[in-house]
Amino acid sequence: MFSSPMLHEVVQLFPPPARKRRLEGLYLGESLSPPAAGASADAPVLVYANFVTSLDGRIAVTDADGATRLPEGLTNPRDWRLFRELQAHADCLVTHGGYLRALASGSLGNVLQVGLGADGADIARWRTDRGMTAQPAVAILSASLDLPVPDSLAANRQPVCVLTTAAAPRDRVEALGKAGVEVVVTGPGPWVRGRDAVDVLAGRGCRRLYLQTGPRMLASALRDGVLSRLYLTISHRMVGGEHFDTMLRGGVLGEAGKVRLSALYLDEAADGGCGQLFACFETG
Ligand SMILES: NC(=O)c1ccc[n+]([C@@H]2O[C@H](COP(=O)([O-])OP(=O)(O)OC[C@H]3O[C@@H](n4cnc5c(N)ncnc54)[C@H](OP(=O)(O)O)[C@@H]3O)[C@@H](O)[C@H]2O)c1
Repeated sequence: MFSSPMLHEVVQLFPPPARKRRLEGLYLGESLSPPAAGASADAPVLVYANFVTSLDGRIAVTDADGATRLPEGLTNPRDWRLFRELQAHADCLVTHGGYLRALASGSLGNVLQVGLGADGADIARWRTDRGMTAQPAVAILSASLDLPVPDSLAANRQPVCVLTTAAAPRDRVEALGKAGVEVVVTGPGPWVRGRDAVDVLAGRGCRRLYLQTGPRMLASALRDGVLSRLYLTISHRMVGGEHFDTMLRGGVLGEAGKVRLSALYLDEAADGGCGQLFACFETG
């Protein structure tokens, strides 16, 4: 993947002792097993999310023309590799209407299948070697139901469901149903809550849920106590900007916002040598 052997390395800073680790395989080697049955009153599910943030806390910036985009330089091939390694563990990728619209317009690339990209074959193989389906199911969160459902989901035989609420426009629920897309109405709305989404997907046998969602769902998953783990890439750059997104949207979280560091890796080679940190936090 990278030309020099040094470029394959990151340094594990936590837990100690510090040691070199290979970048490729770092997150394939993660244990993402759901808690054992009986450990909680609910179905055993592991819900994990991945974000990349700048040092000043930006995950996206809004241009003068109102378009929101990932800040330049925030993501890179090394972070992208780990994002895809996390996908390999998933029974279900959870995405949302905002992403599908960005995909359809070409402003974001495709992240709906495991093993994407020229160097993704080993990631896809890792999954099938473990007896998992070639591709995970996909759940789409949407309040508006303004959804261009991409053809790649059917082409890859991925089970798909749309999760919405009782506040969704009835005509769009019916139109999606007529088009053969399953729509599950969860709570009263307007937004699908983290707890409701996890309950629906756990009820379908999904035990490892990868939230490829944004600030709204992350906040809800934390507030509802259903997020298990947060993978966070911290880019060593400041982004600035007058209008921006951070990882969370909505009210103050209080105790529900507490997380515990479980791993920290320094990736010195990223971003022309400025580097980045790969952190993992556990909740609860
Ligand atoms: N740096 C990073 O790691 C990172 C990660 C995620 C996002 N981002 C960026 O941050 C910006 C904002 O993120 P975002 O677009 O994900 O914002 P968001 O406000 O969380 O979600 C965007 C849209 O998705 C649908 N949606 C999301 N959560 C939902 C829920 N719980 N229930 C029902 N519908 C829901 C809604 O659209 P509809 O109801 O109309 O379908 C919502 O307006 C974007 O530019 C994005 O690319 C960056």
